[in-house]
Amino acid sequence: MLILGIDTSCDDTCASVVEDGVRIISNIVSNQTEIHKKYGGIVPELASRRHIEMIWPVVDEAVKVAVIKPEDLSAIAVCHGPGLIGSLLVGCSFAKAICYSKNIPLVTVNHLEGHIFSCFLDERGPEFPFLSLIVSGGHTCLYRVDGFGRYRELGRTRDDAAGEAYDKVSKLLGLGYPGGTVIDKLAHNGNPDAIDFPRPYLPESFDFSFSGLKTAVKLEVEKLRRCEDRGFSTSQPLNFLTSYVCDIAASFQASVVDVLVRKTEWAVKKERIKRVALSGGVSANSELRKRMKEMGDAIGVEIFIPSVSLCTDNAAMIAAAGYHHFNTGNIAGLDLNPQAYLPL
Ligand code: KG4
Ligand code: ZN
Repeated sequence: MLILGIDTSCDDTCASVVEDGVRIISNIVSNQTEIHKKYGGIVPELASRRHIEMIWPVVDEAVKVAVIKPEDLSAIAVCHGPGLIGSLLVGCSFAKAICYSKNIPLVTVNHLEGHIFSCFLDERGPEFPFLSLIVSGGHTCLYRVDGFGRYRELGRTRDDAAGEAYDKVSKLLGLGYPGGTVIDKLAHNGNPDAIDFPRPYLPESFDFSFSGLKTAVKLEVEKLRRCEDRGFSTSQPLNFLTSYVCDIAASFQASVVDVLVRKTEWAVKKERIKRVALSGGVSANSELRKRMKEMGDAIGVEIFIPSVSLCTDNAAMIAAAGYHHFNTGNIAGLDLNPQAYLPL
């Protein structure tokens, strides 16, 4: 069974054809990094305009690479939220138009549900139940997944998402947007113990909080700038004292990773679960991948982390979850409206 997935929830225009919810036939992503990086973050109006330009070529490419005709599709699965409303509208309107004109069933997928299902697209996905840690630019949450449609939120961030913290710290250091990959790379050359940044464990719950950590980095950067050459513009990269910048990156990353790994371990123990799946852009982080696997080995828990291209936003994950919606007869009407705020 072939499902075409479409995701335009944020700044990537994505389309993918997936067979039986697990086998990727095509997976096309057109990202907008070049457009937004000069603003240091995503500009929603520019994002939706670019989606309008790219949605047709991206979907067309996904269908061509898969060597199929629209008639071969069992359904089209579109992400209808949460996300930027102007961006979501482009994908949803496009999906509805093809479904109407080609008489194809439409199914909707929550973006977070899509991330949860990204772990089934590699060689072997986890058996139920498992814990799903979603760490992206817009979300940081921990779910217990007992089956398709059976998700229980154990915790979520109370302020910034982990990826948002990476992006903000990168901006503070003048390293550009998006920040995750740059900080990940710089951290390899820094000392993670150089600065003792706070670890917001919030031991009474499985919630997360990263805004205090971001403030601690800001204070450290201000200290660094004070000892630097006067007249230094805050928008310039901190390329002086480079090794210290690497230390800040490594110490910040150590704090984020410590919290994510330790809280996941607590949740595994409390829920008595033997499998953990990671997803979202931050799960592309080399240190998080390594430390999560080490934790799993130490306590006998299997860790599932998608390949890097499936960690960040993509439509294969939407098609993977959409397959289950279609199988359970959960078909959407053509009066569908996307929702910026859409709890799972
Ligand atoms: O899942 P995603 O593509 O989009 C959202 O749904 O938000 O995640 C994007 C986020 C950005 O904040 C980016 O900085 C972060 O993922 N990211 C990383 C890495 N690669 C991307 N964070 C840490 N380390 C990385 N290697
Ligand atoms: Zn995402």
